[in-house]
Amino acid sequence: MIDPVQDIASILLSPEQIKETVARVAAQINRDYTPADGQPRKRKLIVVAVMKGSVFFYVDLVRAITVPVELDFVKVSSYYAGTSSSGQLKIHLDLKRDDYENIDILLVEDIVDSGRTLKSLTENLRGRGAASVRTVTLLDKPSRREVDFKADYIGKEVPDEFVVGYGLDYDERYRDLPYVGILHPRVYTKSEG
Ligand code: PRP
Repeated sequence: MIDPVQDIASILLSPEQIKETVARVAAQINRDYTPADGQPRKRKLIVVAVMKGSVFFYVDLVRAITVPVELDFVKVSSYYAGTSSSGQLKIHLDLKRDDYENIDILLVEDIVDSGRTLKSLTENLRGRGAASVRTVTLLDKPSRREVDFKADYIGKEVPDEFVVGYGLDYDERYRDLPYVGILHPRVYTKSEG
């Protein structure tokens, strides 16, 4: 059996640091989505996991959000098509709603890299008339950005390294690690050349 830990060069976020990060981001979200007048929220808050990498962050985050939420899920991919600034969005699993003007959407990601996925998806959902669309990401890699995009809530900025664990994969592996680590380069270079 292969020990995945041997493939991890260093740990970026330990389980304890992940907990602290989730609590900090959730506190910001709770503050922003709680009406100042103390009244119940007028619109529904739909917290949407962008599958699959966000799943672990998502389940921890929604349980730390104290305002009432509905849960939902999308699976999308975005690629550069040269025809629009943010890229072409392919939707594999979509929201099925007819009440966009009455909902606030919070998209949950594990990582923002080029920025194409969340830029395209937020533009798409705003185009459907959503009352508001905000984004939260556990990790942000601003050095890789190809389009103008910044998440509203960011857990941690990370260097341009191959990060895995806590949902993030390399070739579908390592998602189940309880921490975020930097993958040892030999894992993705050994089969080349
Ligand atoms: C990853 C990640 C984001 C996207 C970020 O998803 O979860 O959705 O890439 O990259 P971008 O900012 O360059 O658009 P991936 O397509 O690898 O799918 P997964 O979540 O199923 O792993």
